Amino acid sequence: MDTSICSIDGMEGILRYRGIEVEQLEQMPYDAVSYLLIYGKIPAPQELEAYSRKLREERYINREILNVLKVCNYGTEALDSLRTAVCCSAHMDEEKDDSSMEANMNKSIRLVAKFPTLVAAVHRYKTGKFLIAPDEKLSHGANFLYMLRGTVPSAIEAEAIEKDFILSAEHELNPSTFSLRITASTMADIYSAVITGLCTLKGPLHGGARKGVMDMLDEVASHENAEQYVLDKFSRKEKVMGFGHRVYKTCDPRAKLFKDIAKKLADDHGDTQWYDLAERLEQVMYREFMQNKGRPIYPNVDFYSAVVYKYLEIPPELATSVFAAGRVSGWVSHYFEQYSHNRVIRPRANYI
Ligand code: ACO
Repeated sequence: MDTSICSIDGMEGILRYRGIEVEQLEQMPYDAVSYLLIYGKIPAPQELEAYSRKLREERYINREILNVLKVCNYGTEALDSLRTAVCCSAHMDEEKDDSSMEANMNKSIRLVAKFPTLVAAVHRYKTGKFLIAPDEKLSHGANFLYMLRGTVPSAIEAEAIEKDFILSAEHELNPSTFSLRITASTMADIYSAVITGLCTLKGPLHGGARKGVMDMLDEVASHENAEQYVLDKFSRKEKVMGFGHRVYKTCDPRAKLFKDIAKKLADDHGDTQWYDLAERLEQVMYREFMQNKGRPIYPNVDFYSAVVYKYLEIPPELATSVFAAGRVSGWVSHYFEQYSHNRVIRPRANYI
C-alpha cells in the first residue's frame, strides 16, 4: 500500500511524518503536527492560528455524551469508556449524514479536539471528581493535563505531554491504522473507522503495551528488582512489555526521545526512581537477549512513554486512551488518504 503520510526506516531507526523526521517534529506544537498530518503541509502562521482556534472551540463535550460517560464505570481499561463516548459522538454530530469532504474535515477536527476532553472526563467521573472545563489559553497537551488533574501543569510537564501526543500521533500501517483503513476502504463513515482503530489499539501487543509497562513498573518498584524480574520472565518464556518491534531492527527513535523526556521529568521532580528502574530493565533485557538469542532487543515507543506517564501522574488504566488522544490525528489522515484513492482492502487467505 502506498502512503504519503509516514515513512519508517526500520534498519536505521528513522521515522518521518510527511517527510519530516520526528526529532524535528517534536519541537513544534501538537496542533502544527496534527495539521501537517491531515493537510499534508506545515501550516503558515495564520493557518495554524485558524486551526488551533477551531480545536479550542471544539474541545467542549455535549451534555448527553457526558451523561452516558457517567454510567460507563470502566474497570481496568478506560478505553472502553472512550470508545462508547466516540460511538455516542457519532450519533450527536450535527453533520452525521453529510459525507462531503468539508463535513468529514469538520468531523476530524472535532475528533482531534474532543479526544483529550473525553479522556479527562472519563477519569474524573471514575474517580468521583467534578469535571474541569477546557482552558483556552493552554496548548492542546497542557489543557489535557489541566482537565485531568485540575492544576495547570509546569512548563516541563506541558512540554512532555505535548511531545507525547506528537510522538504517538502516527506510525504508518501499525495494527490500529491498518484496521481503520480497512473500515475506510468499505466507504464507511469516519467515526466507524476511528472506532475500529480504537478497538485495535487496545490489545496488549499494540497500544495496550503502554499500560502493561506501567503495571510492570509498579510491580518491579525498584531498580534493584529489575534483574530478577527479567530473569523470571525469560525462564517462563513470557514477553516483557515495551520491548521489541515488528519493523525496527534497531532502537525505535521515539523510544530515545521519550527517554530524554523521562529524564528531564525525573530531574525536575527530583525523583529518579522510575527512570532508574526503566534504565535498568533496558540494560538487563539487552544483555539477556544477546545471551539467549544472539541478537539485541530495544525498547519501543511504549516503554519510556510509560515512565513519562508515571511522572505526569497519568494512571495505568488511562495510558491507552492518552495514546489514542495523540494517535487520532494520524488515524483521520489515513482515513482521508484511503478515501481519496480507494480500493476495498480484501486480502485472500491461503486455504490449508
Ligand atoms: N520480551 C521477551 N521476548 C520477546 C519480546 C519481548 N518484549 N519481543 C519479542 N520477543 C521474542 C519472542 O519471544 C520470540 O522469541 P522466539 O524466537 O524464541 O520464539 C522472538 O523474540 C520474536 O518475537 P515475535 O513476537 O515473533 O516478534 P514480532 O516482531 O512478531 O513482535 C512485538 C513484535 C509484538 C511488538 C513483540 O516484540 C512483543 O510482543 N512485544 C511486547 C509487547 C509490546 O511492547 N508491544 C508494543 C509494540 S509498539 C506498538 O504497537 C505501539
